[in-house]
Amino acid sequence: MLIKNIGVLVGIDGGDTHFKRGAEMKRLDLLESAWLRTEGERIEAFGLMPALPESRTDEKVIDAEGGCLLPSFCDSHTHLVYAGSREREFIDKINGLSYEEIAKRGGGILNSADLLHATSEEELFRQAMERVREITAMGTGCVEIKSGYGLTTADELKMLRVIARIAESSPLKVKATFLGAHAVGRAYSGRQSEYVDLVCDEMIPAVAAEGLAEFVDVFCDAGFFTVEETDKILCTAAKFGLRPKIHANELAVSGGVQVGTAHDALSVDHLERIGNEEIKILAESRTVATMLPGASFFLGMPYGPARRAIDSGAVVALASDYNPGSSPSGNMRMVMSLGCIKMKMTPAEAINATTLNGAYAMDESRDYGSITPGKIANFYLTRPLPSLDFYPYAYATPVIRRIFLKGKEIS
Ligand code: NIG
Ligand code: FE
Repeated sequence: MLIKNIGVLVGIDGGDTHFKRGAEMKRLDLLESAWLRTEGERIEAFGLMPALPESRTDEKVIDAEGGCLLPSFCDSHTHLVYAGSREREFIDKINGLSYEEIAKRGGGILNSADLLHATSEEELFRQAMERVREITAMGTGCVEIKSGYGLTTADELKMLRVIARIAESSPLKVKATFLGAHAVGRAYSGRQSEYVDLVCDEMIPAVAAEGLAEFVDVFCDAGFFTVEETDKILCTAAKFGLRPKIHANELAVSGGVQVGTAHDALSVDHLERIGNEEIKILAESRTVATMLPGASFFLGMPYGPARRAIDSGAVVALASDYNPGSSPSGNMRMVMSLGCIKMKMTPAEAINATTLNGAYAMDESRDYGSITPGKIANFYLTRPLPSLDFYPYAYATPVIRRIFLKGKEIS
């Protein structure tokens, strides 16, 4: 396929940059008035319009009509496999209850676990695929999906099988994370340490035996799992080859960043409540600092200190956290705009954080996250934009015209 008349080709690189750290995040390379060629599933080459190559016989030629071409979003943190929805709690929140108060009353994650238990695997798949199609249409091309609404061995495996089926059925690149330690399952109420044993002794070996996850996650936060419990789970997971990507410092200065980086986590996520100590640790580590502004927006929480983290030299990614309780949206364009509006990231930083650094936070930046010859051809075309800054600025204006995943147009 040959795409011509691209107004601005955004996010190009030579392929030796697997993530951008600190000041490097301001750099976003582009070409004005460009063409791009794909071969099968991959990007082959790009260049300037005056040097447009002759089209080959049997080659499909597409006219971008002056629009921008951007690399697909890489959403490195979602919980998009869930049953039903939780707008009842939305009303509770409007009436003044906090996320933690709702969880303490037995709502929240346990609510979703009850509903998931009562929902067939087929129906769960059907509901999740609706969300997958929704995020595909909004420009996402690579996504991480967590378990964590099962909270029994059988139901965690059921969720992970649904994620595996999504990976087979959708053109999206899908990465699976086991999050058995999302909350203590109802049957273990008041027996948290026994639940942690269940996660370590039964769930992790079962997940690994079926090869259903590549990563492990723990909700290491006030009212959920302690640093010691997190350490125990991550030690066990390491024996089974599962790399950590953990929930940390959403509700309190939890020690999550410390335990995550000590285990060489690929990412520590949320980070609404981190101080100078955590920022220093992140700046000196190769663990990605993943922030989730959609959750801050939805819950009325503080935003993660992305500006300070970048200025200190951390690798920052932004993700949607798509889930029924704290972020019922997988709109990465909105996430990118919140990065600019609320976290004071520049458009270039926010684009890097939602593409290349997101890909790196899923260990997929060799193949995704930028416009690079040899990478998978995942990108989309917009209508002509007055400038690239217009894209995060006009945060709700629909601009995406055509979407391509693995080199094929999605209709
Ligand atoms: O990332 N914080 C923990 N887990 C999810 C929310 C889960 C839920 O409320 O269903 C999150 O915000
Ligand atoms: Fe989350």
